Amino acid sequence: MIKIAPSVLSADFSNLQEEILKLETGGADMIHLDVMDGHFVPNITFGMPVIKKLRRVTKLPFDVHLMIEKPEKYIKDFVHVGADIITVHQESTIHLHRVIQQIKSFGVKGAVALNPSTPLSQIENIIEDVDMVLIMTVNPGFGGQSLIESMKDKVKKLKAIIDARNLNIDIQVDGGINLSNVRHVIEWGANVIVAGSSIFNSDNVVETIKKFKESI
Ligand code: DX5
Ligand code: ZN
Repeated sequence: MIKIAPSVLSADFSNLQEEILKLETGGADMIHLDVMDGHFVPNITFGMPVIKKLRRVTKLPFDVHLMIEKPEKYIKDFVHVGADIITVHQESTIHLHRVIQQIKSFGVKGAVALNPSTPLSQIENIIEDVDMVLIMTVNPGFGGQSLIESMKDKVKKLKAIIDARNLNIDIQVDGGINLSNVRHVIEWGANVIVAGSSIFNSDNVVETIKKFKESI
């Protein structure tokens, strides 16, 4: 099943409650929350207190994308504020297998993200342990960048590995996805689609999500 996970990174942060309700009305399958620490990526967004407050606003699953150093220090906190899926970057931790196990020990889904320059071989030995792999289609840190076309081969290769091993793992793509290229990334093999600026910079957020849902 193809799912749409709007990222609130490009939303109006002074009115997040209303923005999230729009996502719900449009038919979003989950809310993608980009946590950035200013070290792992050159930008800072929000953390636990904001997510905790947002948890009261919607019942949609929270897909928390951690772009932070030493994610292992904060997993418990993000579980407690209401994360349903926690994604850590392969590049952000030395003990990736341990962090994934840590996430799953709390009964939430554990996922791993790869920067554009990180090869799939980095996760080959732990792929069976994750619920989702996030292939970054831009360099993480900012919304509104263009999708890196060469990620096509990486997504296809990952899909082939998952199929060959008969695994039940989601493939998420994040960065530069819009109504013109969403069909392409699905054809590559992705089934969880993150979109930020193409939704929030559109004239009508609700209609744009509906259009995304129609085109998938
Ligand atoms: C980028 C974030 C993305 C971002 C995507 O580092 O991980 O989730 O919100 O934004 P767009 O869809 O505008 O590329
Ligand atoms: Zn993200």
